[in-house]
Amino acid sequence: MTRGRALGVYVHVPFCSVRCGYCDFNTYTADELGEGATRASYADTAIAEIVRSAPAAGGRTVETVFFGGGTPTQLPADDLVRMLGAVDDVLGLAAGAEVTTEANPDSVTPESLATLRRGGFNRISFGVQSAVPHVLATLERTHDPARVPQAVRWAREAGFEQVSVDLIYGTPGESMDDWRASLDQAVALEPDHVSAYALIVEQGTAFARKVRRGEVVMPDDDQTADKYLLADELLTSAGLGWYELSNWARDEGAQCRHNVLYWHSDDWFGFGPGAHSHLAGERWWNVKHPAAYAQRLAADESPRHDGETIDAATAEIERIMLQTRLRTGLELASLSPDARAQVADLAARDLVTVFDDRLVLTLTGRLLADAVVRQLVD
Ligand SMILES: C[S@@+](CC[C@H](N)C(=O)[O-])C[C@H]1O[C@@H](n2cnc3c(N)ncnc32)[C@H](O)[C@@H]1O
Ligand code: SF4
Repeated sequence: MTRGRALGVYVHVPFCSVRCGYCDFNTYTADELGEGATRASYADTAIAEIVRSAPAAGGRTVETVFFGGGTPTQLPADDLVRMLGAVDDVLGLAAGAEVTTEANPDSVTPESLATLRRGGFNRISFGVQSAVPHVLATLERTHDPARVPQAVRWAREAGFEQVSVDLIYGTPGESMDDWRASLDQAVALEPDHVSAYALIVEQGTAFARKVRRGEVVMPDDDQTADKYLLADELLTSAGLGWYELSNWARDEGAQCRHNVLYWHSDDWFGFGPGAHSHLAGERWWNVKHPAAYAQRLAADESPRHDGETIDAATAEIERIMLQTRLRTGLELASLSPDARAQVADLAARDLVTVFDDRLVLTLTGRLLADAVVRQLVD
């Protein structure tokens, strides 16, 4: 089935109360922010950028909006609602649009959640990561695990239809039982959606320095693979099916439509410092620092830093990289003769199956997805 190109919006909120040692996202604590940008003025600055985007939208309405960070819920809920209102006023929200915000469990209250829900947010993604105190401590997460069920209950009471939780596995010192406990607690929250990512050691972070100095030791690939298999087993038996390598949903309606839009290389505007946009075969990104971003918009200038036109060969490699990771897989007819010639070998090695003329990863293939992609694009 051919999909039309959906239009999405990403709004970046570059603030956190503390920086987790492993994270290299474009986010700033109050101490790191410096002069020239404030949380109080952020919503108006971002709205100024949203207003500038109207001519490029091409008349399509917005199917999905995703507020990410950073920690969007570090801003007052009214500010998030005002930014969403600007997206609706300027670009127009489609009927039934999915509107998500990310949140840390310790950055929401019943009141802030009710304001968000009334203001049009209908999906919330909590950064839970782990249920085990020593793992949370290694990750330098600030929340008390007891806060998580409370935050999820408040979200439900506020009327959020879709609640997702993010988990991380493979933290140094995390045993298989620790990971099982995190999965069990996540399932007990009855989420509609779970994302589970292996911890990545991002160069330049405090965590990477600890690994380099030998203060913490990363698990080997076999243990990480076993943790993936445990996640798939426990989430599947709880009624959450995988639809992308690291994402599981209660049913098709609970999939994150915004991420599905990325994985199909559809179109989106990214607003905020460092945010990337992708529209009509072009990709561009904004200046990274919130102060530089604010200065540009205060001077009525575009915050765009640089961009590129995506050529057909690059688009094809990206399509294979992204769609191989999806349960819907890759349409065989869409592959080049060279890529199609690899399919029999991949199937013989139990890395892919073919049905309905689509190539789909097996469970073994999901553990080796990068190697499968390399074989298809080389
Ligand atoms: C950037 S955060 C934004 C949401 C929120 N601030 C939070 O921490 O939950 C989105 C997700 O990225 C994950 N993440 C950040 N750095 C990561 C890393 N190095 N490896 C794996 N996941 C990471 C976070 O843990 C979180 O679940
Ligand atoms: S993981 Fe989330 S809370 Fe931690 S620094 Fe990154 S964006 Fe902030």
